[in-house]
Amino acid sequence: MDTDNVKIGSGRKILLIVGGGIAAYKVLDLIRRLREVGHEVRCVLTAGGAEFVTPLSLAALSGNKIYKDLFDPTDEHEMGHIQLSRWADLLLVAPATADLIAKMTMGLAGDLATAMLLATNKSVVIAPAMNVRMWEHPATVANIATLRSRGIKVIGPEEGDMACGEYGFGRMSEPSVILAAIAQHFQLSGRLHGRRALVTSGPTWEPIDPVRAIVNRSSGRQGHAIATALASAGVTTTLVTGPTALRDPQGLEVIHVETARDMLAACIIARDRGPILDIAVCAAAVADWRIDDVAPQKLKKGNRGPPQLKLTENPDILENLSQQGNRRPRLVIGFAAETEDLIRAAQEKRYRKGCDWIIANDVSASANKGRGTFGGDLNTVHFITATTTEAWPMASKDSVALRLVDRIAETFGVSHDQHP
Ligand code: C5P
Repeated sequence: MDTDNVKIGSGRKILLIVGGGIAAYKVLDLIRRLREVGHEVRCVLTAGGAEFVTPLSLAALSGNKIYKDLFDPTDEHEMGHIQLSRWADLLLVAPATADLIAKMTMGLAGDLATAMLLATNKSVVIAPAMNVRMWEHPATVANIATLRSRGIKVIGPEEGDMACGEYGFGRMSEPSVILAAIAQHFQLSGRLHGRRALVTSGPTWEPIDPVRAIVNRSSGRQGHAIATALASAGVTTTLVTGPTALRDPQGLEVIHVETARDMLAACIIARDRGPILDIAVCAAAVADWRIDDVAPQKLKKGNRGPPQLKLTENPDILENLSQQGNRRPRLVIGFAAETEDLIRAAQEKRYRKGCDWIIANDVSASANKGRGTFGGDLNTVHFITATTTEAWPMASKDSVALRLVDRIAETFGVSHDQHP
C-alpha cells in the first residue's frame, strides 16, 4: 500500500453501506483504518449485513450511530436518508453482494441502503464479494458493466480461496487496498478540472466487403478506463472509440467510429474545435493496414481461389497528434502492445512517433499470470518517458488508469504550461 496516497485526501465523510456477506467482518478493520487516516465514517447496515456484523461493533468502531431502517421515524427526523446521502463525500458499499449490485443496476430503492444509493449525487465506490460463479454469471457481468458506465468505481474482487470452499475471483479486496483506492479517488477528484482530453480506445474495423472486416482483439477496456478516470478527475473528455462490446461511459463525450481513417478524422475535429487539448491518450489498437479497394458486394467463393487482398497503410493517429505545431496537445501519450522485447520496442516507438509518454504492455499469452491482456481485467505495464522507465505492478485496468491520471495530474500540477 502506498501510505503517501492514503494520507492525501483524508478528512472526508464516508457513508459505508455494509452488505450481507461473510466478507462483512473485514469492514470492522476497514472502519478503524478509515478513521485512523482522518475520515469520518457513518454506517448503514443492511438486513443481510446484520447477519454477519452487529450494529454495536459498527457503532463502537465508527463512533457514530448506525442507520438501518428506511422508515425509522427518529432517524428520519434527525437525519433523513436523503440528507444522509448528501452528508457524505463518498458512498462505499462493502461488501457489495450480487443482490445489492443487481438492485443498484435496476435502481431499486426498497430499503435504506438502496434508497440512498439511488438518491445520492456523490461518488459511489463498491467492493464486490461473492461466490466466483455468481461473479462470473452473465447477469453480474452485465450489472457491473452498467455500474461502471455510470461512473461507479469497482474495487476488486480478488482471486483466492473462498469461504464456500471454492477458488476464484470473488474475495472482497483487503481493507488496505480499499483504503488506497479511496485515497486515490479523493486525490484525483477535481484535480484536473478545466483541462481538455481526447482518448482513443478499442479496435478499428477495416472492411473487406460489406460483410467482412480486418479486426483485432482489443476490448477497449483500458482506453475506456482511462477516459472514465480522466472525467472523474474533472477533465472535459472526448472518447473516440472503435467498435467494442462496452457501454458508453457516462460524464463524457463518446464518438463511435469504425475505421482508422474515421478515427483520425474524429480526433482532428475534436482537437481543433476548442482551446488546445491538454491531454491526448491513444489507447486504441488501430489497424495498421486497410484493404486498398473494398469490394462493393460480398465476395463469393468460386473456382478462381481465394481473393488476393491488397493492403494499404493506415494513417497513424498517435503520430499525427504528436506532430509539432500550434495545435499539438500539451501531453501526448501512446501505448505499445508488444509480445517481445517490450521496453526497447516501446522506447523506440515513443521516439519515432514523437509522443511524450508511452505505456508499454506485454500482450503475450503468458502475460498477467497466463490470463493474457486482451479482453481481460488485468494489465502489466511499463511507464516510459524520455528519461525514465518504470515497471508498474500487475493491476486491474481501472487501477492502471487511475495511476496514469495521477501522473498526469502531477505533471500539470508542477507547471500548467511546461512541456512534460
Ligand atoms: O505502431 P503501434 O500500433 O504498435 O503503436 C501503438 C500506438 O500507436 C498506440 O498508442 C496506438 O493507439 C497508436 N496508433 C495510432 N494509429 C495507428 C497505429 C497505432 O494511433 N494507425
